[in-house]
Amino acid sequence: MSAETNILLPTSGVDLFLKDKETMEAARSLVDDWRFARVTVNVEEGDVETAIGSYQNIRSPSLVIIETDTTDDSFIERLGALSEYCSETTNAIIIGPVNDVNLYRNLTSLGISDYLVKPVPLETLSEVIATTLIEKLGAKGSRLIGVVGSKGGVGTTALTQVLAWALSEEMDQKTILLDAAGGWSSLGVGIGFEPSASLHEAVKAAENKDEDTLARMYHKANDKLTVLATGIDPMLETSVQANQYEALIDVLMTSYPVVLVDLSGAIPSLKKTIINRAHELLLVTTPVLSSLRAARTLLQEVKLLQGGEASSVDLLVNMVGMASSKEVPKKDIAAALEYEPDAVIPFDPKLFLGAENEGKKITQGKEGKEVISALMPILTKLLGEGDLVDNTKEPGGVIADLLGKMTQKK
Ligand SMILES: Nc1ncnc2c1ncn2[C@@H]1O[C@H](COP(=O)(O)OP(=O)(O)OP(=O)(O)O)[C@@H](O)[C@H]1O
Ligand SMILES: [Mg+2]
Repeated sequence: MSAETNILLPTSGVDLFLKDKETMEAARSLVDDWRFARVTVNVEEGDVETAIGSYQNIRSPSLVIIETDTTDDSFIERLGALSEYCSETTNAIIIGPVNDVNLYRNLTSLGISDYLVKPVPLETLSEVIATTLIEKLGAKGSRLIGVVGSKGGVGTTALTQVLAWALSEEMDQKTILLDAAGGWSSLGVGIGFEPSASLHEAVKAAENKDEDTLARMYHKANDKLTVLATGIDPMLETSVQANQYEALIDVLMTSYPVVLVDLSGAIPSLKKTIINRAHELLLVTTPVLSSLRAARTLLQEVKLLQGGEASSVDLLVNMVGMASSKEVPKKDIAAALEYEPDAVIPFDPKLFLGAENEGKKITQGKEGKEVISALMPILTKLLGEGDLVDNTKEPGGVIADLLGKMTQKK
């Protein structure tokens, strides 16, 4: 499983028409994979004819996977027939008997998302489906990074800001930064902007796919860093809902290779959604008992949600030295949390509070650079695997294109 696909996949449907027993078994065990919790997988014994029969009566799902024994022109012709009954947003993957580069090229040029050779092992099947579903969102190649505190006030917002400056200035990454705290947001203080919109307005714009309105809520912090300047929401009104926020993230991920979310001050359901969708989760704690206890519980919950592992979590211990004699030593933190801290950041009120008071960038001076150095192993891990691309292309490869392309070819 790649870092790209190790996320909770979007709500979608996948129908598989198969004959090969091994591939069928693999498809049936997809339900045990935490990433597929919102994906409805239907496995049916059959082939392209069975699929054609199905979609005469019911709407085709996000993705159709069809096994075939023949790959000649008659099969291509039947795919054309299938495309007539498929919704224009349905993608298709073909599983065939032989490894044939020409056939692969021919099928992909006709709009088929992928061609695989049977039997398809579980690993390949889950990876190919996950990649196709992410591609459909138009978010392929983009990374979602969530930063969450074990409790309030541990420095989640401050460290997210350091990360945002480092990503955009040191790593030259086009990045969008946003939080989910609504009226409780303090993001503007450190970055230096006045919130110009509410989170409710932002999710509404995303829901309407109104990117112009959304763009008016952007604060350009530097060449590479954009901030969604929300926060004028009334503090005592209801938060936006998790599914609305997720739709906003989906829109942002189509235009920004890095989407960085400060989750401090967000409601739990929203935290959960972003934790499950994020490629990387940064968990901030301080080295004191109350914070560490919460960090341990949160880690256990994340493990439970993600199939027993929390492989994409990084532990940041912040404000070390604030109360030295009362703090838990690093080695004891690792033992208690069963998790080795990935970064340790010293307590430095002059730097952090000074930057806030004077409206300066935390990362500007020598001390700020040292905080970036402490976070560097995490930053390289975030960006190291796979290529981040500027994602402006249309998600392609839907089966409805097939008919058009076939007629063009003649
Ligand atoms: N390492 C540090 N040393 C000194 N002060 C720090 C450090 N990290 C953060 N701070 C300061 O601690 C205060 C709380 O930080 P911040 O607002 O980032 O926390 P938070 O976890 O986001 O809080 P909330 O739960 O309210 O969102 C801020 O004034 C910040 O500048
Ligand atoms: Mg905060």
